[in-house]
Amino acid sequence: MTIIAIDGPAASGKGTLAKLIARHWGLPCLDTGLLYRAVARDVSARGFRLTDAWAALALARALDPRTLDDPSLRSQAAGEGASIVAGMPEVRAALLDYQRAFAAQPGGAVLDGRDIGTVVCPGADAKIYVTARPQVRAWRRFVERQAQSEAATFDAVLADIQRRDARDAGRESAPMRAAPDADLLETSELDIEAAFEAAVGLIKRKIGR
Ligand code: CDP
Repeated sequence: MTIIAIDGPAASGKGTLAKLIARHWGLPCLDTGLLYRAVARDVSARGFRLTDAWAALALARALDPRTLDDPSLRSQAAGEGASIVAGMPEVRAALLDYQRAFAAQPGGAVLDGRDIGTVVCPGADAKIYVTARPQVRAWRRFVERQAQSEAATFDAVLADIQRRDARDAGRESAPMRAAPDADLLETSELDIEAAFEAAVGLIKRKIGR
């Protein structure tokens, strides 16, 4: 069984990398950001405020993982909402069992998020913390949003990313950070193929194949 943890800040490319890594080793992949995005979606859809911890907890407990492929979860608003509910320790606790059960599948799994290497799977066989300069990450996200015809200026995307990073790194419960035994992968100067090759090299050194 091989568990691979990929963490990193907003728009660092960890999601794309995690999918490529999962395909390379034939493992299932969970984008854990979708869980928080879906809780935020469900809180708003039922007319509650995103800061309503009681509603967020109830809806985190009731979350149906079959609703995670909803394209609306990719929007900027869902990311912002996710970061608000993700600051609530009870919400994080309610989502933990699902993530750990996913990781414990026969054969293992790849999970990407903010706290996989530190909290969800501290015993993961390989851990990568993916970073890139904020301007680079904002540019990648800006191009992505334009392709989806979601109107946004580069400055607004950058501000969103910086606000979310500060909130995710500053919260008390499972703050975003690299595990002490994680390999850092700085991708500012790498395209996705080069980042993938570097990640494969780091993981091979840890799992031996
Ligand atoms: O794709 P992007 O990096 O913009 O965001 P995401 O990975 O979908 O995560 C959205 C938000 O969910 C983050 O800003 C975090 O607040 C939260 N999150 C978290 O707290 N823990 C995780 N394991 C994954 C996401």
